[in-house]
Amino acid sequence: MSIELLTQKSGPKISKYIYGQFSEHLGHGIYGSLYVGEDSDMPNVNGMRSDVVNALKAIHVPVLRWPGGLFADTYHWQDGIGPKDTRKKIVNTNWGDVTEDNSFGTHEYFELLHQLGADAYINANIGSGTVQEMAEWVEYMTMAGESPMSKLRQKNGRQDPWSLKFFGIGNESWGGGGNMRPEYYADVYRQYQTFLPQYDKDHPIYKVACGPNEDDYNWTDTLMKYAGEYLDGISLHYYTLPTGQWGLHKGDATGFPEAQWDSTMTRTKHMDELITRHSTIMDKYDPDHKVNLIVDEWGTWYNVTKNTNPGFLQQQNTIRDAMVAAINLNIFHKHADRVNMTNIAQMVNVLQAMILTDGSKMIKTPTYYVFDMYQKHMDAELVSGIGSVPENVSYTASQKDGTLTISVVNYDVHAANQLDFIGIQAYQTIQTATILTAKAMDAHNTFEDPDAVQEAAYTGATLSQAGLQLKLPAKSVVTITLK
Ligand code: AHR
Repeated sequence: MSIELLTQKSGPKISKYIYGQFSEHLGHGIYGSLYVGEDSDMPNVNGMRSDVVNALKAIHVPVLRWPGGLFADTYHWQDGIGPKDTRKKIVNTNWGDVTEDNSFGTHEYFELLHQLGADAYINANIGSGTVQEMAEWVEYMTMAGESPMSKLRQKNGRQDPWSLKFFGIGNESWGGGGNMRPEYYADVYRQYQTFLPQYDKDHPIYKVACGPNEDDYNWTDTLMKYAGEYLDGISLHYYTLPTGQWGLHKGDATGFPEAQWDSTMTRTKHMDELITRHSTIMDKYDPDHKVNLIVDEWGTWYNVTKNTNPGFLQQQNTIRDAMVAAINLNIFHKHADRVNMTNIAQMVNVLQAMILTDGSKMIKTPTYYVFDMYQKHMDAELVSGIGSVPENVSYTASQKDGTLTISVVNYDVHAANQLDFIGIQAYQTIQTATILTAKAMDAHNTFEDPDAVQEAAYTGATLSQAGLQLKLPAKSVVTITLK
């Protein structure tokens, strides 16, 4: 089968923020993995763990959502500033009732962003906080001149304001963030955003409202109707569960039956329908696509690894997760005119992570390698194509600075496939070609065998006058760049 790529036609920009990440105060998502503290024996820079930060720098994390998730609606930012020994210790009631010592707070978050080269996406507490608390947090972070909160920030060692790019007002307000009805939430959102101070007039903070859970189309309609004129983006949460059941029977991350490979692929592809239908509703109120859909939680959610704290959401990550990552990134690209940020849940040690740690050991997951292979698509122009693909194959293409990047995923568990591309006469040579594949459907990296699944050079491409031919092994992701 072949695809004609319309390389002469200009497409929407694939925002780099589609490659965003999410880190919550949850299990080992931050403590011990991203943040070990200045006094740790593990190599660190200002408390940030060097091996993990270096691995993440290599994939150019563009934005990091923090501090939750559900945690955000119990988080009081003043607990996380000032001398560490005086910071309030609280109980993390959402995630295992463990003690949260607040040693990672606002200053540490911006230090991490600085080291990663990432932008800020902070989620406010509207579930158990107040309008004043939110407004003062923003004042603390962004006020350049003299004010009570800027003076407090300076007293705590930070002279200049930080840049706050994205700000979420509510997380899952339809559930754990307040169990609100959409009409009520729309009003709460309107109130909070009214008092969101914008001190840097040249760089206004981008406002994200809590959008729907999965296929709650009424939420989107109601929110757009009553609050659509006051927001920049609305969030969407959708997780891929192999069995589709919450609770103890979501399906295991490894050792799963083949039927759960298939159901995982089917369920993850549902993202396309969700975005299409929510976006169509948004079109009624916003035909020019000024408001974005922000998929700020997505990824696989399995039963936790045996003998780990159920509140820590620790799970292995296999070649199946690599397929899920590639399929979703392809979907997000396709909707680049509406989707300008997504945040996979979560960056380290939680759910579909890039990195897993165990004490001082660290491994990169198959999902990490997909994010690595897809980097060339960041901020590139989407190239659309005409033609059909084999069953169980999905592709995406983009161009930027004279480079055409094509990524293809063959998520067939058994069969190899082939996909050809034509219409690419302007491109003469293969620049880079990488593949991620594995034999077993639950192949994964472990602390004992950290490189079992990793990127390799790809030799299945043939470029000729007739076009580009790609031979795709079963369970593979391929990225190829042409000049
Ligand atoms: O990512 C884990 C949790 O999933 C988040 O805290 C919450 O927003 C969602 O339910």
